[in-house]
Amino acid sequence: MKYRKMGKLGIESSAFGLGCMRFNGAASGDSTIDEEKAIGLIRRAIDGGVTYLDTAYVYLDKTSEIVLGKALLDGYRDKVRIATKMPIEAVKNREDMEKLLAEELGKLQTDHIDFYLMHGINKEKWERFKEMGAPEFFDDMKREGKIRYKCFSFHGPYEDYEYIIKDWDWDMVQIQYNYMDTENQAGTKGLELAGSLGIPVVIMEGLLGGRLAKAPDNVQALYDAFPTKRSAVEWGFRWLCDHPEVSVVLSGCNEAEQIDENLKIFDTVEAGIMSEEEHRLIKDVQDAYKSRTKVSCTGCRYCMPCPGGVDIPGVFSAWNNCSLYNVDPKDDWGLRMLKGREATPDKCLKCGACERACPQHLPIIDKLQEAWAVLG
Ligand SMILES: NC(=O)c1ccc[n+]([C@@H]2O[C@H](COP(=O)([O-])OP(=O)(O)OC[C@H]3O[C@@H](n4cnc5c(N)ncnc54)[C@H](OP(=O)(O)O)[C@@H]3O)[C@@H](O)[C@H]2O)c1
Repeated sequence: MKYRKMGKLGIESSAFGLGCMRFNGAASGDSTIDEEKAIGLIRRAIDGGVTYLDTAYVYLDKTSEIVLGKALLDGYRDKVRIATKMPIEAVKNREDMEKLLAEELGKLQTDHIDFYLMHGINKEKWERFKEMGAPEFFDDMKREGKIRYKCFSFHGPYEDYEYIIKDWDWDMVQIQYNYMDTENQAGTKGLELAGSLGIPVVIMEGLLGGRLAKAPDNVQALYDAFPTKRSAVEWGFRWLCDHPEVSVVLSGCNEAEQIDENLKIFDTVEAGIMSEEEHRLIKDVQDAYKSRTKVSCTGCRYCMPCPGGVDIPGVFSAWNNCSLYNVDPKDDWGLRMLKGREATPDKCLKCGACERACPQHLPIIDKLQEAWAVLG
């Protein structure tokens, strides 16, 4: 495992951080965790050298923190740093913040949280957090030792990002970044800005929620033609770690094999090692993906549950799947499951709850109808 500096903090972290948002069937519509399996995966990652674990109050129907807390018993807590998050929806004032942090510490079975994040903020949410006294609360908790570092995670437009990151003395920022998101959200500009301020950057959705792990035939042909053979996953992580500003790359693994492969990859990846030819390859891969992607949903499930019962990430996954991998909709297994569960776009109430929650700001209502015209 390679360990990387965390900007101005004067500490190091494993380059690979385990995300605790996708255990079990979370990406395929089932948000219940197989605890035993998840605990095994977490400990496997730590035994392999992972020192950074990311969760959040809301992940997996609020059970992710509980499972992580159990996994960190038996001496594992002392080997790692944990990140969790405060969702603005759960707090209105300081008393709520105190209650929420106490609940999170209880679920995680720890006396402190290393990285405490304001979860998925944009400019408007940051201003609301400020009005509620969140910055003072974070500073007080840092002084009391209940949190070590004050941080935020971000999915909004670049302008909001620049405003927020310059508006307070943050200790860390977590952004969505991968070779398909260089000009989306914080993007490369945001990564470099954090680097210039000495603020360590933790990457989420580094494989675009898993989409970059499964190369469609037009992308695979590019990888196959390249003289050095690497898996799609390795190319994704190699590209990210080539950036010196990146401290930790999170990935939410569901299987022991994924953890093992990632541990091996993160033994080799370093900043500044990619050649010009490799960068050209990734540019071609970007173009190949763009030509086939229908909707840039990452399957994070922030939009769920849908009041109408539509499995929104499931529909978009089926739509992208059919387009990326040339699958006839009638042969798409995921789509058949959706139809069986009556979780299809024709159940959409057009209430817009999903669009307000989507960190990618997708026009979900229209996209669902567009998808249904093809898949239905
Ligand atoms: N703060 C926020 O707003 C926010 C938002 C999103 C995520 N996050 C955090 O960031 C973490 C990382 O994001 P992410 O989970 O989207 O990361 P990611 O690496 O983009 O996607 C994870 C998925 O990639 C696939 N994968 C990973 N390693 C693989 C391997 N070796 N071989 C094949 N497939 C592999 C798996 O897909 P399959 O499941 O299809 O096998 C896995 O579920 C999350 O777990 C969460 O903790 C935070």
